[in-house]
Amino acid sequence: MKYSLSYTALTAAVAVTSVFAAPAVVQKRAACSSAVTLSGSSNPFATNKLYANSYYADEITAAVAGMTDATLIAQAKKVAEVGSFKWIDTISVIPTIDAMIKDVPCGEIIGLVIYDLPGRDCAAKASNGELAVGEIARYKSEYIDPIVEIFKANPNTAIALIIEPDSLPNLVTNADLATCQASASGYEEGVAYALKQLNLPNVVMYVDAGHGGWLGWNDNLKPGAEGLAKVYKAAGSPSQVRGIATNIAGWNAWKKTPGEFENTPDGQYNKCQDEDRYVTIFGAALAAAGHPNHAIVDTGRNAVQGLRLEWGDWCNVDGAGFGVRPSSDTGNTLADAFVWGKPGGESDGTSDTSATRYDSFCGHADAFKPSPEAGAWHQAYFEMLLKNAVPQF
Ligand code: BGC
Repeated sequence: MKYSLSYTALTAAVAVTSVFAAPAVVQKRAACSSAVTLSGSSNPFATNKLYANSYYADEITAAVAGMTDATLIAQAKKVAEVGSFKWIDTISVIPTIDAMIKDVPCGEIIGLVIYDLPGRDCAAKASNGELAVGEIARYKSEYIDPIVEIFKANPNTAIALIIEPDSLPNLVTNADLATCQASASGYEEGVAYALKQLNLPNVVMYVDAGHGGWLGWNDNLKPGAEGLAKVYKAAGSPSQVRGIATNIAGWNAWKKTPGEFENTPDGQYNKCQDEDRYVTIFGAALAAAGHPNHAIVDTGRNAVQGLRLEWGDWCNVDGAGFGVRPSSDTGNTLADAFVWGKPGGESDGTSDTSATRYDSFCGHADAFKPSPEAGAWHQAYFEMLLKNAVPQF
């Protein structure tokens, strides 16, 4: 559809540039010349490459400035060329998004994460957000609405969204926590509002569905799928919802037999021992519940397996490596693409026990220490991911 410049645009670009000079390569970074039309009924990654955003590239440029090993520096520079999602994790990030969207060449798709619900990260502390429980009106008017305006102003750019990591899965499995009880109605209303308002022709949406070790337990499959379907239907079953995002900021392998935790005593209660099986099995539950069931899967940091002491360990897992690069070649018809959802090198949470957002998971024996606040650049962790990357850079 829009994988390359149209013939006319291409010849025009050559003609213009050749007046001034004779470049060896045709100018690459041109936006599409007409509106992009995506929909929940086709895989946007089949025709569009995940965009390597300038924010992550800048983080890596800064990281390289402090490095001395020439081999590692050369490898690090290649990471800056890998497509990854940019997290809109505070209202203050919104004004930076327009320029980033305008930088996306035709044939590429920008990945953005919607992540600012009131009472965010209700089952943990590391990513508690800026909006308190009850601030749903602010979420709508100060967060979602301005993002919608930016997307509407850029109809010629393809946009893929991951919707609110961990939020709906937490309502399924952590409903016993007072914090998640308090967040529940705001999460449901907020996600439904986001799905409804962001339902634009140039946007395709994937709702976060945790991972195989979360909603993949036999007893969680049906409630999980129904929990997502309830919110999707409350939003009016928006046409641009393509399905789910799995393993976001996670560590599970795409394919591994036996799975990392398959032979533990509990293994018998979970058929989703890798993300390939999760996408297929949870996908069937989603279909039964009436929710779109295609998936994107985060492979950004899952290269090295066997590191976690418990399946639920999520914070800065020590020994991890960059995984498979973004690709729509997944071998599973329900899996649209492998993506880099979590920008590798950004922390999952602080290991400083005196910090307000200190979560004990970031102090577990398998968590890398010391580590800075969630989202902050973590140089030592980045270098570790780079050294342990599979395939290598
Ligand atoms: C943090 C966000 C950050 C994201 C990506 C989350 O854990 O809470 O602030 O943007 O990770 O690094």
